[in-house]
Amino acid sequence: MTVDLWEAIKGRRSIRAFTSDPVERRTLKRLIEAAIWAPSGGNAQTWRFVVVTDPDRIRRIKMVSPGLLGDPPVLIAACQDMDAAARKGGRLGREFLSVTDTGMAVQNLLLAAHAEGLGACVIASFHRGALKRLLHLPDEVEPLLLVSLGHPAEAPGPPDRDEGVISFEVYGGGNG
Ligand SMILES: Cc1cc2nc3c(=O)[nH]c(=O)nc-3n(C[C@H](O)[C@H](O)[C@H](O)COP(=O)(O)O)c2cc1C
Repeated sequence: MTVDLWEAIKGRRSIRAFTSDPVERRTLKRLIEAAIWAPSGGNAQTWRFVVVTDPDRIRRIKMVSPGLLGDPPVLIAACQDMDAAARKGGRLGREFLSVTDTGMAVQNLLLAAHAEGLGACVIASFHRGALKRLLHLPDEVEPLLLVSLGHPAEAPGPPDRDEGVISFEVYGGGNG
């Protein structure tokens, strides 16, 4: 997979319609490899990933995930071992780094999926307790984000980006 970085950053879209073609296991492993090469606070690496391809399990996850649209052949639950996060980073690790680290790992995963010609969408709207039960997550492992994944069946245009978010030197400072 070789792709121009700017093409990957700007060309990636949230994809919510998928073909029924499966995604090869070695590709899935490559996507997780991309995820775990993200930075993490103190190099804690307390993220955990559960890759789901069983159609019946995906169907049951859909029932508890209002934000999950379409019929993806793959779901990836990006989780955190909260005990490990607290052990490695104390309160900051448990309450903050766990969330930021997961976001960084998931963005790597999304870019790698795009580079592989796959479509993906992040989902935060799901019932955490129900997902924990469906994935047999132990108490200390919390699901933070779901990623739906598959071969894209749509090619949406880019949604607007607000570029007026930058200040120089101090908040509200102009760029000259
Ligand atoms: C933390 C997070 C949570 C999101 N949750 C959902 C979700 O529950 N359902 C959904 O369809 N899209 C979800 N999205 C996707 C956003 O709607 C999407 O990224 C945004 O509209 C910009 O579109 P783009 O990804 O194509 O650039 C989420 C994105 C992020 C970063």
